[in-house]
Amino acid sequence: MNAAVDITGVHLETEALILRSFEAADLQDFHAYARVPGVGELAGWVHHSSLEESKEILDMFISERKTLAIVEKKTGRVIGSVGIEPYDETCVGDEYRPLKCREIGYVLSREYWGQGLMPQAVTGVLRYCFEELQLDAVFCACFRRNHQSRRVAEKTGFRQVCDLMLPTMYGTQEEAVLTVMHREDWAGRSS
Ligand SMILES: CC(C)(COP(=O)(O)OP(=O)(O)OC[C@H]1O[C@@H](n2cnc3c(N)ncnc32)[C@H](O)[C@@H]1OP(=O)(O)O)[C@@H](O)C(=O)NCCC(=O)NCCS
Repeated sequence: MNAAVDITGVHLETEALILRSFEAADLQDFHAYARVPGVGELAGWVHHSSLEESKEILDMFISERKTLAIVEKKTGRVIGSVGIEPYDETCVGDEYRPLKCREIGYVLSREYWGQGLMPQAVTGVLRYCFEELQLDAVFCACFRRNHQSRRVAEKTGFRQVCDLMLPTMYGTQEEAVLTVMHREDWAGRSS
């Protein structure tokens, strides 16, 4: 089942990053990476075409309280996000029904790709999910074509559950891979 999540007041730190809730003042930083063609498209959404569109999504992040902003410590700039999303309960087996689960989704400004920053951010969010929220399992679904996202899931310790078809926000269905990390996997990797 989907566990309740409210990230209000959350402040997570990794070596290079801070993860915290989004604020209205993040609009320019958010728009700067969300407007770049080819970034959102890897995650199933279309790059933003105006500041107003970014403001609408930012307002949604603020009100829904499940998406963390990724802040570069060195500059204070918001360079991406990690959402702790509801997962699709129809896509996985009955064994997950009694468990507390969520699914993560992430995006990083193109300028920052290839520095290992998202694995850092995801590890910080997993620590929060397992040690603070006490979740039993965290899922991560990536489009099959999205090699770089699948590498992040692999490198942070997710294991493959099944193949599935996922809808995009531009009206198509695409082949995807569902991966999972269980609480025991987390306990094993951090000891
Ligand atoms: C997926 C994403 C978050 C990865 O973040 P990151 O901080 O660059 O991750 P890493 O530095 O660990 O790199 C992951 C892989 O990306 C690939 N990669 C690295 N630099 C790259 C670049 N400049 N361009 C394309 N791919 C690159 C490599 O295959 C790397 O794997 P490796 O470490 O085995 O070489 C980022 O590419 C992104 O925001 N993509 C668009 C949104 C998206 O795909 N979201 C996921 C939806 S499930």
